[in-house]
Amino acid sequence: MSEKRLPLPSDELIALAGRLGTPFHIYDGPGIRRNAESLAAAFSWAPGFINYFAVKALPNINIVRMLGRLGFGADCSSLPELVIARDAGIPASRIMFTSNDTPDEEFAEAFRMGAVLNLDDITHIDDVIRVCGRLPETISFRFNPGPERTGNAIIGNPVEAKYGVTRDQLLDCYRIARDNGVKHFMLHTMVASNELNEGYIVETARMLFSLVGEIHGRLGIGIEQVDLGGGIGIPYRPEDEPISFASLGRDIQSLYREMIEEKGLGPVRISFECGRCITGPYGWLISRVRHVAHKYKDYAGLDACMADLMRPALYGAYHHITVVGKEDEAPCHVYDVTGSLCENNDKFAIDRKLPEISKGDILAIHDTGAHGHSMGFSYNAKLRHAEYLLEEGGRVLCIRRAETIDDYLATQLPCPEEV
Ligand SMILES: Cc1ncc(COP(=O)(O)O)c(C=O)c1O
Repeated sequence: MSEKRLPLPSDELIALAGRLGTPFHIYDGPGIRRNAESLAAAFSWAPGFINYFAVKALPNINIVRMLGRLGFGADCSSLPELVIARDAGIPASRIMFTSNDTPDEEFAEAFRMGAVLNLDDITHIDDVIRVCGRLPETISFRFNPGPERTGNAIIGNPVEAKYGVTRDQLLDCYRIARDNGVKHFMLHTMVASNELNEGYIVETARMLFSLVGEIHGRLGIGIEQVDLGGGIGIPYRPEDEPISFASLGRDIQSLYREMIEEKGLGPVRISFECGRCITGPYGWLISRVRHVAHKYKDYAGLDACMADLMRPALYGAYHHITVVGKEDEAPCHVYDVTGSLCENNDKFAIDRKLPEISKGDILAIHDTGAHGHSMGFSYNAKLRHAEYLLEEGGRVLCIRRAETIDDYLATQLPCPEEV
């Protein structure tokens, strides 16, 4: 079971919503820091352990800087994310560039910065040599185990996934890299998303540790770091059990002893690139009920929409909802909780049992601290909303202002330019 708490006592949250205007995302700074520290503590046994925070989960420079100060790195998937990581003060040695279908100029900039290139395909080796003149001294390859592993709903079955190099290609990748002067080798995978089964993540470690042995045996190459990717899940539903970092750390430690240390393959650095389990439970989308409508079903229409949080519409994902101030009332009404887009799948919840909702009520949608605001978009010319950080002593800091119509129109040219 996981407790679904609010960032502030209900009366204070209602007052804050009135003062700031809704909707907005709010993040619990001390909560994120404590949580980040507990992941690091669980892996303190592992030499040089690092979590590269997946910037895509919450690409706000203030959050990335906060995590950087705790020793986290950054996992970036695009040039703007690299810029966020750099400007947040993350040293290049702590930046991973795990990109997809990467444009030349992004390889060039990541290389120039000194970030670790985590290549997604064997053909990218030639791309990097062509674009950067040579391979970097350190390189990582993303491994896709194909039929050896089953994936899960969000990331999909590895055989169907566009990511990573196959088992047949993997040894060739390291051989080519070594022959082209690479000195330091890393191995990465990302086979699960929002995984709540600790055993699955331990099995991923087993798979990578076994590959460390195989690559060493077949090529004589020592893998210096294995990156288990992101994907540690969070309990979106109150009945879900969270993963215990401490237990995960202990289980991976015993595998490490058996498969790395006792075989003389160490030291191998262990890393993750988790986003969701670091910030996810520490974010809320706060929204006001604009209309309550009774049609063939009952609808609570919010001033937020799927542009603020698209996981429910995209994956049918569950996000817990609290009607703020009515926590003690019985959930005896059934609503579709909807957004304001002209899209019928713009729903935060379908057939959700909640206390009776009235126009003007404040709803807190939980667990929006990762892949929430960042997945937003601008369909229906919806403007992007603000992000706030709740700090010690109840201080509320604006870490992203709300977009204005002028912001939205800034890239449009009122008089078409001939090109
Ligand atoms: C390559 C890569 N690393 C890390 C992550 C972060 O995953 P999560 O936030 O679920 O930990 C993602 C998410 O999509 C990803 O694609």
